[in-house]
Amino acid sequence: MSQHDFLTLDDVDTANKRVFLRVDINVPLDPSTHLILDDTRIKAVSETLSELEDARVVLGSHQSRPGKDDFTSLEPHAQALAGCCNQEVKFVEDVIGPHARQRIAKVERGQVLVLDNLRFCAEENVDDKPEKLLKTHFVRMLAPLFELNINDAFATAHRSQPSIVGLAEALPSAAGRLMEKELGAVSGLLVEPKRPCVYILGGAKVEDKVPVIKHILDREKADKILLGGVPAKLFLRAKDMKISTNDEEEVAVLREHIETAKGLLSKYGDKIDLPVDLAYEDSHGRRVDHEIDSQPVKGPALDVGVKTIEKYSEAVEDAATAVANGPLGVFERNGFDVGTKKILESMAKSSGYTVIGGGHMVGLASILGIDEKLSHVSTAGGAMLSLLSGQSLPGVEALVRAADRMRNQKVHSWTSL
Ligand code: 3PG
Ligand code: MG
Repeated sequence: MSQHDFLTLDDVDTANKRVFLRVDINVPLDPSTHLILDDTRIKAVSETLSELEDARVVLGSHQSRPGKDDFTSLEPHAQALAGCCNQEVKFVEDVIGPHARQRIAKVERGQVLVLDNLRFCAEENVDDKPEKLLKTHFVRMLAPLFELNINDAFATAHRSQPSIVGLAEALPSAAGRLMEKELGAVSGLLVEPKRPCVYILGGAKVEDKVPVIKHILDREKADKILLGGVPAKLFLRAKDMKISTNDEEEVAVLREHIETAKGLLSKYGDKIDLPVDLAYEDSHGRRVDHEIDSQPVKGPALDVGVKTIEKYSEAVEDAATAVANGPLGVFERNGFDVGTKKILESMAKSSGYTVIGGGHMVGLASILGIDEKLSHVSTAGGAMLSLLSGQSLPGVEALVRAADRMRNQKVHSWTSL
């Protein structure tokens, strides 16, 4: 038995079994050509696939969300997967319809059939309770075709959707290797991280980062939180520091979070580090750094300034554990990627335990060629933050329930649904 509350590939017999493998190969795509821009998530599935070479595998993933430009077919993903595993990879342009079901029934040992974007099914876009998900058309159509469900989609484990939770309620289920590895690395940060432990949090989504700051500091799991991106602007505002009018406007809509930030600053002021300078664009499109509290400037801050970068880099290099999620600036703009790059380079240099997550940071680390120098590169953004903010992951809870059922031999009977 594995050491977890859920089962893993060590606990299940996969030989000749028809296995549904849920992965997260939701990747950045070129908006016009739909070419895959970063294949980190695709490569990350290869360990589980190689352990399933004796099985008949049907692989499912989502790509983006309805209404977005990159909400497309999984055909290019299937092609890319073929280069990452030893099995013959096929693709079917269907998810739960008769065509898909016929192809699923015919998958042979050593083959991988990739279904089309699971979110082409409306039900897959709605989070619901496990008992409701069990009764979705999606689960009723697919579950009877499988003997085993493997969830390797750590990056989607914070969603309570049919393929993540519903199938795990319906079928004998276990975690794939990536799920196991990610959970070990990320939840380990909440146990006994080596000290000093430093977090670097940036990006745009303040609502994801504030709960992480609170949880980590309340549980005394970090010594310093270094802020960049929009979270830095929010906390500077909460501290009544001067920020540009544009930045004021950007954080004004985050009023409820300003109150939380004020509370966190008064309780943990010595542990939360804010930028001492920020970088702006001058009228010629060039980068100019301004110290906080000097003359207010025009335009939004696009990166942390060089003095801040120096200070943050030192803290990262001295840390025994460094965790980063979210870029420190608008790194896509020429000249404003310095903060994010330097922090990643400091993490790569460090001999401590280093973890990064979030699509932007991970993509940049792979462009810089330093991903191999980090201890753990998470394929997740939101799921990693959910875990670090103390929330349980519905996808993992469903695997734990499945393990309980399997230990008690209570596997669902399909005729009773
Ligand atoms: C992600 O990239 O965050 C995961 O693939 C989950 O996607 P979602 O946020 O659209 O549910
Ligand atoms: Mg997301």
